[in-house]
Amino acid sequence: MSSEPLTTAIGHLYLVGVGPGDPELMTYKAVRILSEARVWAVPTARENGLSSARQIAEKMVPDNGRTILSLCFPMKKVYLGQETDNQLLSAWRKSADEVIRHLESGEDVAFPTLGDATLYSTAFYLLAMIQEQRPNIGVTVVPGITAMAACAASQSSPLALGNDVLAVVPAAFEDDRLRDILTTLDAVVLMKVHKRIDALIDLLDELGLCDCAVLTERSGMPEERVFTDIRQARGCTLHYFSTMVVRKKKVQVSHGSHAIAA
Ligand SMILES: C[S@@+](CC[C@H](N)C(=O)[O-])C[C@H]1O[C@@H](n2cnc3c(N)ncnc32)[C@H](O)[C@@H]1O
Repeated sequence: MSSEPLTTAIGHLYLVGVGPGDPELMTYKAVRILSEARVWAVPTARENGLSSARQIAEKMVPDNGRTILSLCFPMKKVYLGQETDNQLLSAWRKSADEVIRHLESGEDVAFPTLGDATLYSTAFYLLAMIQEQRPNIGVTVVPGITAMAACAASQSSPLALGNDVLAVVPAAFEDDRLRDILTTLDAVVLMKVHKRIDALIDLLDELGLCDCAVLTERSGMPEERVFTDIRQARGCTLHYFSTMVVRKKKVQVSHGSHAIAA
C-alpha cells in the first residue's frame, strides 16, 4: 500500500453578478454556474441577515441541497488608499478563511453579488483577502447587469451616447468633486444616494439639473419606486437600493434639416 498522502483538487471560486433585482435579468451563465456550485457564499449586511443577492438567485436556481455560507460584511465606508476599518478587515478575513476552507476541501464556491461584480461589490475585497493567503486560487468573474443599466432601461433612456462622457459616483461620500462632475460631464450616475438625498436635491437644484434627473429605488423589485420629479423625493426615507441617473442632453438625431428629439 502506498503511504502517499491523499490530495484533493482545490475548488474554483466564482464571483457571480446576479443583476439588480428582477431575476429575469440574471444571465444564463450566472444561472448555470450557481446551479452547479454546491457551495454558495452569500453576502449579508448583518450576522445571519438576509442576502439580497441570494434572494434574487434563488428565484432562478432551484435548491440542490447546496451549502450556504453566510458571510457578514458590515456596511462601512471604504476609502481606497486609506487604512481600512478594523471591523471590516476582520469580517473580510473571517469570510476569506471560511471560503478557503471549502475551496481546499475540493468544493467550488460561488459568490452571488448584486448587479455586476466589478462595480462597487464586496466580491473584490473578499477576493483580495483570499488571494493574500492563496494567490493561486482559480477565479472566474461572471458579469451581471448593473443597477444603473436597469434604471436607465426602465426609463427607455441611454446612459451615454455619441461623445457623452459618463461618470459613476458613489454619492454616500461627501466629495468636493461632485459639483465639478455634475457641472462638466454630460451624464452622471449617483449610487448609494439614500442617506444624502436632500443634499443631492439641493445641489442639483442649484445647478439647474433637477429636471435632468430620475431616481429609481429598488429597480426590478416588487417595491420599485421611480421619481421622475426628484424634488418629490425630498424628505423620503429611501431604501439603500436607490440610484439616480442625471442626463443633461436629450437624444437628438439629425436628418438633414430635421432634428428628432426623444
Ligand atoms: C454596493 S453597490 C452595488 C452595485 C452593483 N454591484 C451594480 O452593479 O449595480 C449598491 C448600490 O447599487 C445601487 N443598486 C443596487 N441595486 C439596485 C436596485 N435594484 N435599484 C436601484 N439601485 C440599486 C444603489 O445605488 C446601491 O446603493
